[in-house]
Amino acid sequence: MSAAVRRVRVHPGPLSGRLGVPGDKSVSHRVVLMGALADGGATVSGVVASGDVLATIAAVRCMGGQVWLDPAADGLLEGRVEGPLGEACDVVDCGNSGTGLRLLAGLAAGMDAVTVLTGDVSLRGRPMARIVDPLRAMGAIVDGRDGGRLPPLVVRGGKLHPLTWDSPVASAQVKSCLLLAGLVGRVDVTVSSRLPSRDHTERLLRAGGIDVTTATIDGREIVALHPGTLRFDTTLRVPGDPSSAAFWLVAGAIGGRAVTVTDVSVNPTRTGAIEVLTDLGAAVDSTGEAVRSGEPVADVTIRAGAQLASAQVGGRRVVDAIDELPVLALAGALSSGGLDVSDATELRAKESDRIVAMARTFSALGMRLEERPDGYLVPGGQRPGPGIVDAGGDHRIAMTACVAATVASGPVEVTGFDCVATSYPTFLDDLARLGGRVEVLEEG
Ligand code: S3P
Repeated sequence: MSAAVRRVRVHPGPLSGRLGVPGDKSVSHRVVLMGALADGGATVSGVVASGDVLATIAAVRCMGGQVWLDPAADGLLEGRVEGPLGEACDVVDCGNSGTGLRLLAGLAAGMDAVTVLTGDVSLRGRPMARIVDPLRAMGAIVDGRDGGRLPPLVVRGGKLHPLTWDSPVASAQVKSCLLLAGLVGRVDVTVSSRLPSRDHTERLLRAGGIDVTTATIDGREIVALHPGTLRFDTTLRVPGDPSSAAFWLVAGAIGGRAVTVTDVSVNPTRTGAIEVLTDLGAAVDSTGEAVRSGEPVADVTIRAGAQLASAQVGGRRVVDAIDELPVLALAGALSSGGLDVSDATELRAKESDRIVAMARTFSALGMRLEERPDGYLVPGGQRPGPGIVDAGGDHRIAMTACVAATVASGPVEVTGFDCVATSYPTFLDDLARLGGRVEVLEEG
């Protein structure tokens, strides 16, 4: 029901219970793109029907790919994706999705074609030099606003040279962009970064028979691709999204009730939120571990009743929890000693400046979050009051405000809620499933 909801009021009351969350957004983008690049295409399942991923599906169609995806009984998309991909028939609109735009830019750089990539007002404000500089170093001709630092980007690809690149940001989007450029442009690519980042692209490439190696030297991650023919013999199954699961795990931790999220990715590059909650003193159990299309999954339970103490987050854990830091701030507020996040300047380059957005959200709910240039400090011993939060176009801020409402001293209204469809179109259904009391104030 969330897709068309613009304004919502969530009433206080702790959440508890068990549920599955939609397919991981990062993996969904990748199975669609790589399915279209694979020799013979791919059969996929568990793809989240979120705005971001629907934009990537539309991009694949615009580039001549065939996508037959329909909702299965669980509402997630399954079916087939096939190429070949060629020059896009129009400007490619990636919507709100940095992942979509940056991965498509890499793919486009490998093709003898001109591709114009754009997105919504948030995406058009996000930094692109991190991909444009290395793509230019490979020989792609890339232009864009502000000398190529901002979308729309125009990519004229083909005739690439091999690349060895040291990325100043630990970003899976940058790494994946360059690996896809190497795959499509048929050149060797080596990307090193200060810290490891999510490795879904590497796992899928390996599953499709491509020679990709990863080494970690003195904490740095070095990934090397030698191109070949991508081919998938088995269905690519997308695991549950740990970034969506984090809302419910934090709700359980702050409400003092047990919450279980089933079949969720526990890829070690995505478990940062679970580790921060554990550091804060929450009791987290994983059962039913399995591997699905190269990605580890499990049922993750946050047990009832633990007292949250304090935690510090920096370094690698920031990368592993980057999308969950807004909702983790709430766990910090409800703890006794607070949460201290540093090394997280990247939060300022997401769908919004999430340090500013969280300070604003906390203040709207009568709480305090101290901004720092590279993170934030949330004092403990706080509780949200009633209030009105404007999502500011950022889905994770809207969902964080809804979770805050569950432990607040009065109802919380969220305006601009429609952005939630970007990643988690069934968020309100799942909130209600765990006992959340939701009033829809405006739809359409
Ligand atoms: C993503 C990587 C992360 C993350 C984003 C999804 C991906 O961004 O914040 O939501 O799918 O590769 P960066 O790689 O820019 O850190």
